[in-house]
Amino acid sequence: MQEERILKSEDDTITFAKELAPKLKEGDVLALYGELGTGKTFFTQQLCKFLGVRENVSSPSYVLMNEYMGICIIRHLDLYRLDAAEEVLELGLYDLYNDAITIIEWPEIADGMLPENTIHIYFEFINQNRKVTIKM
Ligand SMILES: Nc1ncnc2c1ncn2[C@@H]1O[C@H](COP(=O)(O)OP(=O)(O)O)[C@@H](O)[C@H]1O
Ligand SMILES: [Mg+2]
Repeated sequence: MQEERILKSEDDTITFAKELAPKLKEGDVLALYGELGTGKTFFTQQLCKFLGVRENVSSPSYVLMNEYMGICIIRHLDLYRLDAAEEVLELGLYDLYNDAITIIEWPEIADGMLPENTIHIYFEFINQNRKVTIKM
């Protein structure tokens, strides 16, 4: 299934997150693609809220991974700073999927290590707006 949405404002992103959240469950993996500033972290913050996280969700750019508790464990990763697939393995990515919802920004380096059920979400700038393409 493939779906496209135009996100004209942060409110549109919030609506998208609100609609997606109830469809998610433990074991799901979201791969968020898109250049800097397209809204991956903002989307994750909103999604986490709708998944019951009450803590402040911050960008994991420097720490690689943050973990929260909502309807289940939620892990938020940012692989931007990794430059080899081996580093992804060192992170133990495979062992992380089952007991959590996993949200990965800059997932390209982990390409071959994403489970088959991964929901791929592509963020883009388009004219003055943002667009997401969801492949699941
Ligand atoms: N749909 C949207 N419309 C307008 N601004 C947005 C939207 N989504 C995110 N933003 C804003 O864009 C900026 C960059 O978003 P961020 O989530 O940090 O991007 P990324 O993680 O992809 O680098 C933030 O200030 C955020 O509030
Ligand atoms: Mg980000």
